[in-house]
This record gives sequence, C-alpha cells and structure tokens, in this order.
Amino acid sequence: MEFNIAVIHGDGIGVEIIDSAIEVLGAVAKKFGHKFNFEPVSAGGNAIDKFGEPLPMAELEKCLRSDSVLLGAVGGPKWDTLPGHLRPERALLGIRKELGLYANIRPARLMPILKDACPLKKEVAEKGFDMIIIRELTGGIYYGERGRRIGQNGVEAYDTELYSEMEIERIARTAYEIAMGRKKQLISIDKANVLESSRLWREVVHKLNAEYPEVKVTDMLVDNAAMQLVRNPSQFDVVVTGNMFGDILSDEASQITGSIGLLPSASLGESGRGMYEPIHGSAPDIAGRNIANPIATILSVAMMLRFSFKLEKEAAAVENAVNAVLEQGCRTADIPGNGTTPLGTREMTANIIEKI
Ligand code: IPM
Ligand code: MG
Repeated sequence: MEFNIAVIHGDGIGVEIIDSAIEVLGAVAKKFGHKFNFEPVSAGGNAIDKFGEPLPMAELEKCLRSDSVLLGAVGGPKWDTLPGHLRPERALLGIRKELGLYANIRPARLMPILKDACPLKKEVAEKGFDMIIIRELTGGIYYGERGRRIGQNGVEAYDTELYSEMEIERIARTAYEIAMGRKKQLISIDKANVLESSRLWREVVHKLNAEYPEVKVTDMLVDNAAMQLVRNPSQFDVVVTGNMFGDILSDEASQITGSIGLLPSASLGESGRGMYEPIHGSAPDIAGRNIANPIATILSVAMMLRFSFKLEKEAAAVENAVNAVLEQGCRTADIPGNGTTPLGTREMTANIIEKI
C-alpha cells in the first residue's frame, strides 16, 4: 500500500528523532512491501525564522492533504519572548484544531524490563501499570477566550475554560470505546468541586454511560488523580480528561514509566487522518548532540501504522523491535540505569531497525 505522510521535524531534538522515525518507516516499507511518501512541512520555530509565522497556510495545507502527520517537537528559548499568537506552540494548536484532532491518546505502560528505572517505591513499581490517558485536545482553556485588560488593581490577564456538551460527549465516546476493548473501567478526571465546566463534564460522561452499561465509570478530582498516579498507578486503566488536566497528568504518567523519552501519542478526529508525535518537547539543551531518545517517536510511528493505516502487523513489528532492544539492555542516556555507555540516537535507531 502507498501512503503520503506530512513530516514536521520542528525544532530542537525534533530534527534528529524524526530522521530516526523516517528510517524506521523505510525499514517497514522494505520488509512489508509498502511505499511511504514524505512531504516536509515547516512549522514551529523554524517556520517563524523562515516565514515569520509558526504555521503558514501553505504548510497547513500540506497536512490537510496528507494521509497522516508525523511531528517531532516545536519550540525553544529563541522564540520564548514572542507574543502568544506568534509562538511556535501555536503551530501545534493550529494543526490540532484545523485537522479536527480532538482525541489525544497517550498510553503509559511500565515495561517490566524498565522497573528499576521507575522513580516510585519498589513495591509500587513491582505491581507495574498499563494505562491509556485520553486527553481532549481541541477545546478547554487552551482554546477559550483570553486577553488582558485593566482592572481595579491594574493589568490583569484571563483564559477561559469552556466545554460544550458536544465536545465532552465525543471525547467520552472515544474513551468508552477504548474501555470496551480493555478492562471496561473508565476513570474520568475533573475538578467538579470547583469548576462549572467540570460539572457539565461529569454529567455528560455519566449520561453516555447508558450506551456503554458494561463500563464502570469512576470520577476522580484532578488533584487527587495527581497524587494517586504516584501512590498507586496500577488502579488506572483508561482515563479520560480535558485538555489542560490531560497535558499535565500525561507528563506525570510518562515520568513514572522511567523516562518521558519513551511515550508516544496519537491525535485523532473523525477521519482516519491523525497526527503522531512523542509527548516530550523539543529539549533544546540536548539538541544536535545525538543523545535524544528516539523511542517515543518510533512508537508514535507504530501508532500511525495501526490507527491511520490499519497496518496492525507492521505496527506490532515496530513495537516488538523496541521491546527487543530494551530487553537486550540497550539504553539511551535519559533512561535511569543506562550503564556506562548509553547509546546515541542513531545507534539506538540502528538497533531497532535491525530487529524489524
Ligand atoms: C503537549 C505539549 C503541548 C500541549 C504544548 C507544546 C503546546 O505540552 O503536547 O503535551 O500543551 O499540548
Ligand atoms: Mg504537554
């Protein structure tokens, strides 16, 4: 089969890890007889340098024309002082919105072989965990009305958390569907003791439970959830939450798997086209040094093969190759207990490709 992939290297380590992902796709193409065409897209800081804006229309259109988008990471200190609408992160938010990618799927699993890399107490790590965080991605406070004004005490700034029933229902549906394929347990995270938007969230999630009566849904307040994640992560299976809470909790969940460099993500909408990216950022401090961990991006490629291209065998081949090299003891520098000579980005990639 043939697929067109819009590729955003982005900034910082995005460049290196996307090169790794492209090599992996090349190996998959060769082994399974597919053809992947790559269309480079400028977005983020490099687009600001080149075109004066983070997501030029022509670049966005390349994403809209593609079968899926693969993204490294955007941002860096160089662009940190620009006004909000010109920051590299706007590119990410813009693509998510314009492509209608409202469902962000972030799996966080502690691989048995990496138990010693888990920063939690031994007895907690011993139990392991395997959860999927489903984050609403095109609504909430990241997209609500914002601004500055002069108030009684001088300058003030505001951002608004706003969710419609429709937005909550469609992300809850995604979560119920995924829960049906797993343990039929869903934890919905909100701040309903304070926020009206969370109270609507809770109502809609429970109303939809009527269509999925086999799923047991439990509500959890976000502050408690942050605590439970480090106290007893094995209680989580499928988690659904809003944009900001999902952003924060998924970073926390990634850290307890050993390293943020391991976790992939898929952002999906109504069509088959998705965007696939590691959950970590552009890590400008280690960019260009061949030490970034390519695994989160390579696992994002596996998610693309599975969810957008329906190539299950190929996705499993990539995931198995990653597991195999980790089991062999290959480690990049970010994984605790990496030994005396951690592998570089290119060496780790080569090892993975060898196993495909
Ligand atoms: C993420 C990132 C982004 C987000 C930033 C870079 C805008 O933190 O994908 O989690 O907040 O969504
Ligand atoms: Mg984040």
